[in-house]
Amino acid sequence: MSNLEIKKKIDKLTSDLNDHNRRYYELDSPIISDTEYDILIRELQDLEAQYPDYKDSNSPTMRVGGRSLNKFGSVEHTVPMLSLANAMNVDELVNFDSQVRRLLGRENIEYIAEPKLDGLAVELIYENGVLTTASTRGDGVLGEDITQNVKTIQSLPLTLKDINNIPSLIELRGEVFIDFDDFTKLNRRQIDKKEKVFSNPRNLAAGSLRQLDPNIVLRRPLKIFCYGLGACKGWDFKTQIQLLETLPNWGIPVNKEIKSGLGVDFLIDYYDKGEQLRDRLPYDIDGVVFKVNSYSDQKKLGERSKSPRWAIAGKLRAQQATTTIENIIISVGRTGALTPVAKLNPVVVGGVTVSNATLHNQDEIDKKDIRLGDTVLIQRAGDVIPEVVKVVKEKRKLGSNKYIIPNECPVCNAGAFRHKGEAVVRCINSSCASQVKGRIEHFVSKSCMDIEGFGPQLIEQLVDQKLIMNISDIYSINKDQLSSLDRMAEKSAENIFNSIKKRKTILLWRFIHGLGIKNVGENTSKVLANHFQLLDNLMIANEEELIEVDEIGEITAKMIILFFSSDNNRQIIKKCIKSGLEFILSRPQKQSLLDQSFVFTGTLTQFSRSEAKKMVETYGGKCINSISAKVSYLVVGKNPGSKLAKAQSFQVSILTEKDFQDLINSQ
Ligand code: IVH
Repeated sequence: MSNLEIKKKIDKLTSDLNDHNRRYYELDSPIISDTEYDILIRELQDLEAQYPDYKDSNSPTMRVGGRSLNKFGSVEHTVPMLSLANAMNVDELVNFDSQVRRLLGRENIEYIAEPKLDGLAVELIYENGVLTTASTRGDGVLGEDITQNVKTIQSLPLTLKDINNIPSLIELRGEVFIDFDDFTKLNRRQIDKKEKVFSNPRNLAAGSLRQLDPNIVLRRPLKIFCYGLGACKGWDFKTQIQLLETLPNWGIPVNKEIKSGLGVDFLIDYYDKGEQLRDRLPYDIDGVVFKVNSYSDQKKLGERSKSPRWAIAGKLRAQQATTTIENIIISVGRTGALTPVAKLNPVVVGGVTVSNATLHNQDEIDKKDIRLGDTVLIQRAGDVIPEVVKVVKEKRKLGSNKYIIPNECPVCNAGAFRHKGEAVVRCINSSCASQVKGRIEHFVSKSCMDIEGFGPQLIEQLVDQKLIMNISDIYSINKDQLSSLDRMAEKSAENIFNSIKKRKTILLWRFIHGLGIKNVGENTSKVLANHFQLLDNLMIANEEELIEVDEIGEITAKMIILFFSSDNNRQIIKKCIKSGLEFILSRPQKQSLLDQSFVFTGTLTQFSRSEAKKMVETYGGKCINSISAKVSYLVVGKNPGSKLAKAQSFQVSILTEKDFQDLINSQ
């Protein structure tokens, strides 16, 4: 790049980032994810380091956070409220620890690990035990006076408990946030009142603290956890642990997920569990924070211009990203539901490439006004199918039109209608190829008959060539028919044939679930199998008998009766049984997993962690979180963490996902 180009690049990054800051801090309406922001800021930092002459005096890298607004009075922080440096991966954590060890000239440092709440940083000043001032972080030195608003937080004491045993002055730092439950409830109320819906808990918390009318804030379910200290008189805290253990005695809320430990292994272990922690917590975190425990060590380490050397934030993989909608297609499911799916320009979210997002139904599309070609913020959460959070309207191309789901099935051209009271549009033709394929996919899937190797591509070919029309036909295809299919080697045909055979003796609930009766999921199927013991008993049960069964309601009972009253369905079941299907109520327990312990690492692609846990527990094994010599198996998914090396050093048996499945299936 020429010097001119570099200057242009720095100017562009500066103005873009200032704009993003304004959107984030002042408008509470960001259009890029935090990770994308981090990447941009790092790029600018690198360029400024190489070409200091081109650095803008107003560069966003000079600020700790956003500007403070003028609506409130301002408060000067006697001890600046700093920001945290980020570690994007394990290597950067390892570097952090080596720097700390080098500067302190000691090994095995004691650290504290805390969840990094995604809310708003505040400072609280208690003078002689009384809450006198609360302020936002602002630019780190000057914040806004939000005392009245903070006083509305129910869990925060206006006067410290144990008033005879307190410091004369204490400045506490903490994070104000709103948990998922309260967020959903509040948004539901907003919808009822036909008022603005908040896009996420952080924006709601930030927006609430900035309300000029404390009466409105009073109705916002704000919570706080304190994690840091500013000035303090009349009390001598020696460590972060001491602070966090003392605060609850005074009635100050502190996060319960905080742990302490020694050295880099502790850092890596807590960081590795960060994503699991995020999935489990009832509020949002965007990372984990590691701090050197001893305050005298913290003092020795000191700080850089914006962040201390004694702490670091371990970033978790972003769950959101922006991309564009390249196409909208309609997928037709086994129940005939037409689901609009956005085909995205592929983007990496939380370490996984996402190219599809569900648009749910017409109401959702209308609510978010999603159109072809739009730039959208997408989000993935755990195992849930990615979805569109919002459209970045500023980037919408001219001439786009509202999207409307067609009233004709795109697969069989039959009519597609939306019934009263339903959110979905359905294809009315039950022999529609998509519905047939969907029903078969469901029948052979892991949570039903679990026929290995019987995947969607195979089903597609078999249905298109009319070799199978319904589930019973699976049992009449022969090896020759299978090997005549495209890309099907003889060996694979044989494998599939054998896996069909292997599942001919099957738990009754699996078959019931596989039938795809509306409202009858895995759990209900188990309840039904348990209660009726024989398929025949279930098939002839009347409404009263069904309702008598625990957990079966009137609607489910009606669905079951409707299903078995169809001649066609009864014929299909009869044919399955004639082909040799046999139902059993429980498997003879080999119990080889009894008391065996399992640890998981990396991203599982075949099943979720909770499914894996259930499988292990079903056969008497247990799941634990960390590796020790006592662990029986480590199951390794994609991008495994440090547990793999640790397990190898302890000579723990290592299983791929496939090995794990084989082990479970042999039970
Ligand atoms: S320590 C100098 N601990 O993260 C130490 N910060 O990027 C700075 N945050 O402004 C703060 N949870 O808003 C610390 N347990 C925690 C935190 C935490 C969330 C936020 C806070 C801070 C930002 C730093």
